[in-house]
Amino acid sequence: MMKNITVIGSGTMGNGIAHTFAQYGFEVSLVDINADALNKAVQTITSNLDRQVKKGTIDEQAKAATLVRIKTYTDLKQGAANAHLVVEAATENPEIKLNLFRQLSEICTDEVILASNTSSISITQIAAVTKKPGNVIGMHFMNPVPVMKLVEVIRGYATTDETTQTVMALAKTLGKDPVEVNDYPGFVANRILMPMINEAIYTLYEGVAGVEEIDTVMKLGMAHPMGPLQLADFIGLDVCLAILKVLYNGFGNQKYAPCPLLVNMVTAGHNGVKTCSGFYKYSPGSKELVVADKFR
Ligand SMILES: NC(=O)c1ccc[n+]([C@@H]2O[C@H](COP(=O)([O-])OP(=O)(O)OC[C@H]3O[C@@H](n4cnc5c(N)ncnc54)[C@H](O)[C@@H]3O)[C@@H](O)[C@H]2O)c1
Repeated sequence: MMKNITVIGSGTMGNGIAHTFAQYGFEVSLVDINADALNKAVQTITSNLDRQVKKGTIDEQAKAATLVRIKTYTDLKQGAANAHLVVEAATENPEIKLNLFRQLSEICTDEVILASNTSSISITQIAAVTKKPGNVIGMHFMNPVPVMKLVEVIRGYATTDETTQTVMALAKTLGKDPVEVNDYPGFVANRILMPMINEAIYTLYEGVAGVEEIDTVMKLGMAHPMGPLQLADFIGLDVCLAILKVLYNGFGNQKYAPCPLLVNMVTAGHNGVKTCSGFYKYSPGSKELVVADKFR
């Protein structure tokens, strides 16, 4: 019986994954190397639960019960010792992830399923450093996790049918709609999304249209809820660049080459919402969308 879930990394995705499992009755151990990140995650989960109470989707009792089910740890061994399933959502860096999975393979028993929320790193490569690669799988949640229905379930080369079926069923118990895909660069979501974002940046770079014009065409013409340039700001321009590099290196195809404007913006530290500057300017607390000075 799956009851104890360990979530590693308590940033944007980790806190949402912990929130969702706890809301659906699982006992959650949330692990981060940074104690401040853990405190911030609990604050974020609390305010997101408050929003759900206000909307009437959960009551005060469910909010309190959800919070009680989440314990925090800075020590991986303590946090993962009793896990039935581990969902790793640490920083998107192959070295960090391979190191974590090597350790998890030693800490956890052979029955434990080890999942990664990676956006682009090969599940096959991650599995290869563990003792039971058949138990390793991708569980790619979307941001914001409590709201978004999709979980992209990624089968590595060695992932067993049993592991896949268990994770697909588990995602459904969280009210999600899981989709099974195979492990190739970018999986499905980012293989399709990132070239579209990259093309939108090329369209701006070549002077075909301005930031607002490009986003408006895609919002009003294609019924996208948000334009591709604004979406890139929300995902993080550094994250978009990292994923495009995985696609470019993985397929060896020029069509995935990151636009030089994206490279320049990341080099200059303009990474989107998290740095308050990308294609748009962001100020904490303001919802107004203003095109960054550079593009006006
Ligand atoms: N942000 C998104 O929209 C999004 C969407 C889907 C998937 N993802 C993936 O989810 C993962 C996490 O992304 P994020 O945006 O939440 O990142 P983030 O930077 O917000 O959080 C990462 C957290 O991992 C922690 N961490 C780093 N090394 C660690 C270690 N060794 N042990 C424990 N904790 C460690 C950091 O302290 C940080 O709190 C990445 O693999 C990313 O590709 C992100």
